Amino acid sequence: MPILDNRLFEFFSYSPDQTRRLGIHLGRYLSTGDMVCLEGNLGSGKTTLVQGIAQGWGVLDPVSSPTYVIVNEYRRADAQRMYHMDAYRLSSAWDAEILDFDRMLVQGPIVIEWPERIRESLPEHHLWIKLTFTGMEHRAMLLTPSGICFESMIENIRRKLYGEF
Ligand SMILES: Nc1ncnc2c1ncn2[C@@H]1O[C@H](COP(=O)(O)OP(=O)(O)OP(=O)(O)O)[C@@H](O)[C@H]1O
Ligand SMILES: [Mg+2]
Repeated sequence: MPILDNRLFEFFSYSPDQTRRLGIHLGRYLSTGDMVCLEGNLGSGKTTLVQGIAQGWGVLDPVSSPTYVIVNEYRRADAQRMYHMDAYRLSSAWDAEILDFDRMLVQGPIVIEWPERIRESLPEHHLWIKLTFTGMEHRAMLLTPSGICFESMIENIRRKLYGEF
């Protein structure tokens, strides 16, 4: 199905490095209060994308999958934090409320794997990225901004990657 909405951005990655590079671009634009949701099956590249996002944002710590701890907190040279959540094991809005997004969002951006598990608890404004396995090293990524800030972020990244068009 053709995508007619030009606020959306579709990116095709042909290697883990390309996925990380897209993440680096995204990470540069993230600031406190931003939420990025990464939807995709096991092995679709969510954590790989987070590694790039963290690098672009300036994380000092190594990035690993927070599957068992639910949330990883990463530091930057200034006092800011970035949160990396894995909602795979969460099953209800109640679980998500305990995690207290509001508290985290005043300290830094949040990136969430398996956001669809806690859809009702997510803030209204977020960047939703759907990753799809399309071949051994191929992944399709559909970026859907919700909120004006993310729309202009997508527009900037589109220009950076492909120039004006
Ligand atoms: N183009 C690509 N982009 C991202 N990862 C890729 C790509 N091609 C191959 N891979 C490989 O696919 C795997 C993706 O694993 P990753 O942990 O990022 O997935 P995930 O979506 O976070 O999975 P999980 O749901 O288990 O957390 C890695 O081993 C990575 O090297
Ligand atoms: Mg992962």
